[in-house]
Amino acid sequence: MTKRAVVRGVGHYLPERVVPNTEFEGKIDTTDEWIRTRSGIERRHFAAEGEHTSDLAVAAARAALEDAGMEAGDLDAIILATSTPDLTFPSAATMVQKALGMTRGFAFDVQAVCAGFIYAMSTANAMILSGQANRVLVIGAETFSRILDWEDRSTCVLFGDGAGALVLEGAEGTGTAADRGILATDLHSDGRFGDILYVDGGVSKGHSGFVRMLGKEVFRHAVEKLAATAHAALDKVGLSGADVDWIVPHQANLRIIKATAQRMQVPMDHVIVTVQDHGNTSAASIPLALSVGKAQGKIKPGDLIVTEAIGGGLAWGAVVLRW
Ligand code: ACO
Repeated sequence: MTKRAVVRGVGHYLPERVVPNTEFEGKIDTTDEWIRTRSGIERRHFAAEGEHTSDLAVAAARAALEDAGMEAGDLDAIILATSTPDLTFPSAATMVQKALGMTRGFAFDVQAVCAGFIYAMSTANAMILSGQANRVLVIGAETFSRILDWEDRSTCVLFGDGAGALVLEGAEGTGTAADRGILATDLHSDGRFGDILYVDGGVSKGHSGFVRMLGKEVFRHAVEKLAATAHAALDKVGLSGADVDWIVPHQANLRIIKATAQRMQVPMDHVIVTVQDHGNTSAASIPLALSVGKAQGKIKPGDLIVTEAIGGGLAWGAVVLRW
């Protein structure tokens, strides 16, 4: 028998305020048409004043726990992926722990920017397989609107706020690719590319800073590295693109999503796409897409899913799981 980290529940939360592309017209030199054709984005949600990353995370966590039929007291751990925590410390994860009324176990944040949820799922999987925790709430939550330079048209139109969460639980499997749960993970980073996507501030710099990006460079790395990491993860369990029911990609740009699907030889009607409605929500984008994909009746028990993401670092990776 082999232990597997199985998905028991999923949920998401989006702030109330929806901002269509047209809201940027007149404020900066851009058009709805440019944003749609270059990125696929039509609208995004922005958090209200006083609404913080942990608030979004708590709402997504509650939805995921309800879907799993569990309570906070059933959890052993919370792992929260974010680059936009409320405070420098304590972690946003411990704020969620407190808000949920969870008084045991442990909670911590991971930071791998847009690849954060892949890193968090991989960490949760390793902890479940090693016996360190059995029920883990994995959250991706961001308020990127707080680190956007509203005068930089090449970045401020691309991002949004939101949160998504999964409940993972250890269960016995057979050790084959027919098992439900996480089947393989593949992680990479390469700090040599830190200067193509970064925030030009931070705690140690004394100001929080804004997102800076060489979009074309990031685009080039994304197309090449996402298909490679997805294939590497599938290879680990003897599967290929032909076995995939759903690609659930990081939602940064529709053109990157299409190019990656094409390289994996997976047709677009087997790809969950939410970028038009959410923009790039960084670490929240994959759990948001999983939750929306399930709510739309697309993702069903037994489906083989590949998730992949790349972000600042550069950091990238993929997870293969059977729902
Ligand atoms: N409106 C109008 N014109 C614009 C805008 C805008 N909002 N932004 C840029 N432009 C202009 C540029 O100034 C440029 O003008 P120029 O030719 O006169 O210099 C022109 O449009 C073309 O710009 P490009 O950068 O060549 O446009 P491109 O087709 O590469 O699309 C984009 C830009 C959407 C940013 C794309 O490169 C991209 O998606 N890159 C990847 C982003 C990504 O995946 N990020 C993921 C990680 S994010 C994270 O980790 C936090």
